[in-house]
Order: sequence, then C-alpha cells, then structure tokens
Amino acid sequence: MEILIIGATGRTGRLIMRLALEDGYHVTAFVRSPEKLNRPVTGVRIIQGDAEDAMQIHNVISQYKFDAVVIAVGAETFKCSKVRTQTTRNVVDALENKSPSTRLWVISSAGSNESMEQLGFFSRTFIKNILKGHISDHSKQENITQNSILPYTIVRPTGLRGIGVVADHNYIVVTKEMIPTDSIKRGELAHFIVCNMFNEEYVGKAVVVTSKP
Ligand SMILES: NC(=O)c1ccc[n+]([C@@H]2O[C@H](COP(=O)([O-])OP(=O)(O)OC[C@H]3O[C@@H](n4cnc5c(N)ncnc54)[C@H](OP(=O)(O)O)[C@@H]3O)[C@@H](O)[C@H]2O)c1
Repeated sequence: MEILIIGATGRTGRLIMRLALEDGYHVTAFVRSPEKLNRPVTGVRIIQGDAEDAMQIHNVISQYKFDAVVIAVGAETFKCSKVRTQTTRNVVDALENKSPSTRLWVISSAGSNESMEQLGFFSRTFIKNILKGHISDHSKQENITQNSILPYTIVRPTGLRGIGVVADHNYIVVTKEMIPTDSIKRGELAHFIVCNMFNEEYVGKAVVVTSKP
C-alpha cells in the first residue's frame, strides 16, 4: 500500500512515517525541507515541495497512485498561517480529480468546529484567546474535508507532547462526549493514525484522541 505523508519533517509526520514503514507501507514524504529528514531515510520516496502550491500537489497526486494521504502540516504557535486550509484545499481538489477513492487523513485539533463544546472551561478559554488563529485554520481545513467526496478521517488531538515513538498506548478516542484530558503524546497520535489507516470504522468521521484520564 502506498502512503503519501505531507509534512513528514514535522514532529508527528516523522513518527507517522516511521510507524508506516515498520508496518510495511511504501511511503512517499512530501516535504518542504528534505535536509531536515534524518539521513539515511531508506525505503522512502522523498518529494520536495510547498504544500500550499496547488500545482505541486496536483503533480504528485497525478504522477503516483496513493492508497492513503496524511496531512500533517502545521505552523509555529504564534504564527498566523493558512497552511492547513490551503494544503487541504489542494489535496482534496487533486484527489477528487485524480483518485477519489484514496483514503484521506487530516490532523486537525481538539477545539475545531463543534469540538470546542467538548472542552472544559479552561481549555476553551485558552484556545479561543491564544490559539484562535490555529483553530480557525484547522476548522476551515475540516470544512473542506467534510465537504469532499473522499473517504476521510479527521483526527483532533488535544495538546501534543513528546517527539518519540511510544510503547505504551494510553489514549482514548472521543466522539461526542466531553474531552477528559488536555494532551496526548505525538507517538500515540501517530500510532492511532497508522493502526487505523484503512479502518472503515472512522471513515467520514471527526474524532478526538487524547490521553486516558
Ligand atoms: N502542538 C499542539 O499542541 C497541537 C495540538 C493539536 C493539534 N495540533 C496540530 O497537529 C499538527 C501537527 O503538529 P506537529 O507539532 O507535529 O507539527 P510540526 O512539528 O510543527 O510540523 C509541521 C510540519 O508542517 C510542514 N509544513 C509547514 N508548511 C509547509 C508547506 N507550505 N509545505 C510543506 N510542508 C509544510 C513543516 O515543514 P518544515 O519542517 O519545512 O517546517 C513540518 O514538517 C499541526 O497541524 C498542529 O496544528 C498541534
């Protein structure tokens, strides 16, 4: 199975790449800065590009056949960015045009769209005031995804911590209930995505993942 990871130099993207390789997937890494990948990266097709450039995404998705695409792009905490929205727009347009059965995974955030109501008072206040630019970008990328014809899954992690793979998987998946904890390890988020890459249970859904209470 062929997996395209967009943002594979990111802290979560790297872990998804590593776990996907361990699970025997063929991985293509679409990255802005290939020099950030630890060398040697064996068994990975590396494509350098800017995910906000529609033509570059279109070219990759036209040239190769992918069974799944993972959008793991992000931006610095206090930087106003539309990278998530623009990347998602580009990927959705290209897949709908060239490969509408490809599974799409979008890393969003707890607090996006209706999941804001699942947060406790302090998390909600923090996100609304400090992270409103990020959450707005994530909410828009979710809307594009949900309006697509693609078999998608939106995953909304709580606060991300850690940069390594983890052996202990103490996380839970929350659909509509209140979110009981405020963080999750990136290794657990990557584990959730890779383990469920083709799981039909999560198609057409947006789910929160967070640490067990
Ligand atoms: N931090 C949190 O607590 C938290 C909580 C919930 C959700 N999230 C979301 O989870 C996602 C992943 O977070 P993370 O911490 O793993 O991300 P990260 O380490 O900040 O990585 C972001 C990735 O996006 C890539 N990128 C940015 N702009 C790009 C572009 N135009 N073209 C190609 N690649 C581009 C970066 O490439 P370079 O290496 O070249 O910069 C990097 O690989 C983000 O969307 C974030 O908002 C974060």
